[in-house]
Amino acid sequence: MKYTVKFNVENDEKLIKDVMKLDSLCYSQDMQGIFDTIYARYSKNKDSFVLIYDKDYLIGYICFFPISNRLMESIYKYNNFHDTDIQPEDIVEYDKSDKYNIFIISVVIHPTYQGSEVIKYLSDSFVDRIKYINQNNKINKIIGISVSNKGSKFMEKLNLSKIKELKNGHMLYDCDYVRIRR
Ligand SMILES: CC(C)(COP(=O)(O)OP(=O)(O)OC[C@H]1O[C@@H](n2cnc3c(N)ncnc32)[C@H](O)[C@@H]1OP(=O)(O)O)[C@@H](O)C(=O)NCCC(=O)NCCS
Repeated sequence: MKYTVKFNVENDEKLIKDVMKLDSLCYSQDMQGIFDTIYARYSKNKDSFVLIYDKDYLIGYICFFPISNRLMESIYKYNNFHDTDIQPEDIVEYDKSDKYNIFIISVVIHPTYQGSEVIKYLSDSFVDRIKYINQNNKINKIIGISVSNKGSKFMEKLNLSKIKELKNGHMLYDCDYVRIRR
């Protein structure tokens, strides 16, 4: 494979700027976060990215992190959840909780690389990473919100199931850790 997978990088600010650049190519304005919020979330838990590079160029990523019980409950209870609203206090640090509910906040592939094998590579790397994080058997559920047909396809390939439609038309998906698959 000519691409490189990374889980972290040295320059945090550059990473978030690169992520935002990709977001601007792939999400409508209202679905793009602002630097301070994204950076604050990342600072709370830096093990939150699977990144794919073509040479030095970021071409795709998945962002995910364990969330608080409070946030978990409100996602299932209410139908007006916006993931751009997630605050750092809703993010749990690994090793500071008995149980992890992993929330996939974003998955993006640069338009030039969409429809190729990159999504499979990214997705497989994500599952491997999830299995690594679960070495101490702490992952309970993996959840995500699909905002597009391709997002739904991505969730379903991982074996997440559709739980409900939110007010804005986005779909909540989840699966128990044992069901996630490459
Ligand atoms: C969602 C997104 C990352 C998917 O990447 P993509 O390259 O466009 O993926 P495609 O849907 O074209 O799928 C390409 C192939 O990979 C497969 N695939 C998709 N997700 C997969 C996964 N998780 N694991 C394995 N294969 C997968 C598809 O089935 C397809 O194969 P097929 O043609 O044999 O059916 C990309 O479209 C994107 O960045 N969209 C804009 C942002 C967005 O909507 N993100 C989703 C948020 S929930």
